[in-house]
Amino acid sequence: MRKTLVMGNWKLNGSKAMALDLVTGLSNQLAGVSGCDVAIAPPVVYLDYVQKLLANSNIILGAQNVDTHLSGAYTGDISAEMLKEVGATHVIIGHSERRTYHKESDKFIAEKFAVLKENNLVPVLCIGETEAENEAGQTEAVCAKQINAVIDLLGVQAFNNAVIAYEPIWAIGTGKSATPAQAQAVHKFIRDHIAKLDANVAKQVVIQYGGSVNDKNAAELFAQPDIDGALVGGASLKADAFAAIVKAAAHAKK
Ligand code: PGA
Repeated sequence: MRKTLVMGNWKLNGSKAMALDLVTGLSNQLAGVSGCDVAIAPPVVYLDYVQKLLANSNIILGAQNVDTHLSGAYTGDISAEMLKEVGATHVIIGHSERRTYHKESDKFIAEKFAVLKENNLVPVLCIGETEAENEAGQTEAVCAKQINAVIDLLGVQAFNNAVIAYEPIWAIGTGKSATPAQAQAVHKFIRDHIAKLDANVAKQVVIQYGGSVNDKNAAELFAQPDIDGALVGGASLKADAFAAIVKAAAHAKK
């Protein structure tokens, strides 16, 4: 059965001092909490440092991005092998901020998914619609298109041991989360979409919700049958709030 995953995406935030504080706080507050996986994705320059801080912890180390190449003349880019060497096991790709600010296409993101799978890293594939697309009733079509880019390149089996994060763009950083019912409907659509090709792959794929998840709304979201945890931005920068979200996931009965 799939295991819930709560992952903190620090985005472009933090420092060594903040990382030390946050990891210490989380380790204290989450000692003895089990029943869900927990990951944090700091900025890439802090991965090595955070990996050492996590030495005696069950918290998984994640990264926020990867390049499609393994080496060569690609100034500023970071490879899957480099991420692995510093202890990252999960890598966020296709975040809407990268799709928007770095013009990343579905095809390019699918190539990132491929390089992660080849290197035994777990892709956390972010998908989701804009507010205009939502209002136009295109949510399902947008999610299907973003998932199909990976299926077309790699086949549906690529979603074995992979994570999908459904993040409606209008909910990210706005304080306006999707309602549990809204999110559940899209998560069910995503799982059914994959099940049409392979029921077993669909059953095990972890589908996180992301977009203004906080310590107040987490429990109700996690109570939905197809919501397998969360990708958390703002609230992952505070130990108290993030630990409360993790505890809500650990208590959610599936
Ligand atoms: P938020 O960000 O929790 O701050 O809305 C979520 C995300 O972008 O992953």
